[in-house]
Amino acid sequence: MSDLKVGREQWGSRLGFILAAMGSAVGLGNIWRFAYVTGESGGAAFLLIYILCILAIGVPILMAEFTIGRRAQSDVVGSFETLAPGKPWVLAGILGVASAFIILSFYSVVAGWSLHYFVQYFTGGPSLGTEGGYGGYFGEFITSPLQPLIWQFIFMAFTVGIVYVGVKKGIEKSNKILMPLLAVLVIVLAGYSMTLGGTREALNFLFSPDWSSLRDPEVYLAALGQAFFSLSLGMGALITYGSYLSKDHKLPGAAVSVASLDTVFAIIAGLMIFPAVFAFGIAPDDGPGLVFVTLPEIFDNMTGGVLFGLAFFFLLSAAALSSGVSLLEVAVAYFMRKFQWSRQKAAIFIGFIIFILGIPSSLGMGILSDVVIFGRDIFDTMDFIASNVFLPIGGLIIALFVGWGWNKAEVLDASDFGNTPIGNIWIFILRFFAPVAIFLIFLSAIGVI
Ligand code: PFF
Repeated sequence: MSDLKVGREQWGSRLGFILAAMGSAVGLGNIWRFAYVTGESGGAAFLLIYILCILAIGVPILMAEFTIGRRAQSDVVGSFETLAPGKPWVLAGILGVASAFIILSFYSVVAGWSLHYFVQYFTGGPSLGTEGGYGGYFGEFITSPLQPLIWQFIFMAFTVGIVYVGVKKGIEKSNKILMPLLAVLVIVLAGYSMTLGGTREALNFLFSPDWSSLRDPEVYLAALGQAFFSLSLGMGALITYGSYLSKDHKLPGAAVSVASLDTVFAIIAGLMIFPAVFAFGIAPDDGPGLVFVTLPEIFDNMTGGVLFGLAFFFLLSAAALSSGVSLLEVAVAYFMRKFQWSRQKAAIFIGFIIFILGIPSSLGMGILSDVVIFGRDIFDTMDFIASNVFLPIGGLIIALFVGWGWNKAEVLDASDFGNTPIGNIWIFILRFFAPVAIFLIFLSAIGVI
């Protein structure tokens, strides 16, 4: 099978591909979601399991996605149909497209919040809410019916715009400058945050585990879900990106770089948020608003804080955009092939549907807050179903497919590992360790074990 489909779009360079994959991985998940899920799940014990999930399950499945995409040269559904025609593995592809719709629908809500904060910093930063504090401001903003929807729409318009122009032109370039800038800013802010007086408590919270929380099965599911979400894993975003690759790229190096950067990013973001959380007496389990309440407090305290706020929310929005683009691209690539649509038509049509789908998540914070499903509001429900259920199931099927459903010699060749010890360990993990671990985490979450 040829590795390069004639006429298929391609990345401009090896760096272009890695940057795009990193751009997909690094986003709101590393800062907003990582901070609040870590806060809600009790800190260090969660962090430990999260890192184990990345190393032992995430990286091998990430490699599996790259391998599938590059070999099949197709979208997430088409890849399974190409490599295993008529077999049920394609279910992972269908779940992947569904996850893309669901995740982008609520992701765009939070990205809209970030854009709103960015614009607020043009005029000196968010004001203090009438109930007092930045928590009050945040609460008033997200519960208002119209404002968040406007920002969500603007974010979706940008996302559609980039996917409309195409993978190479639209995605590669923006990541080259903005992502390193965000990294530098997060490091600087972490340094500042640690001068605020909450560092000892924060380091304890993040790195000294309360072992008793390891008895809580929800912590494992939360860590697994966060690992998948943060690495953009389990729904074929990286299959899709891998499909724009030709053979002269080495996959294992790319997989390790993406996973390491993503994880280091999250940990440094934790070091930025939690010292301030404790210094300002904010509750770590404050929920999805955690960074939107904590960061303005930091900026308020800094000389030149308004400029930092402006830069931070700009770069966070840009990081969200490169992740949003990869989410939309999963669905667009599928619809383009399946229905022979042009890229432009697919981007606009699907982008619009996803915007509509996201409206209830946004309103669920305000006028629809009475709608509660198993104790979760609409937003949380969407996030839970996609991140903690669909992504791990997608990852499970991907692992089983590469481990069992595809000829081993061919897999090793397609992955660039060849028949090496490390290649064989990788296959072993995909065959046994990762599926069993995911399965056990599910069983314990539903209370069977
Ligand atoms: N990894 C992204 C983040 O951490 O913000 C979110 C994401 C992007 C999840 C793409 C899934 C995906 F396919």
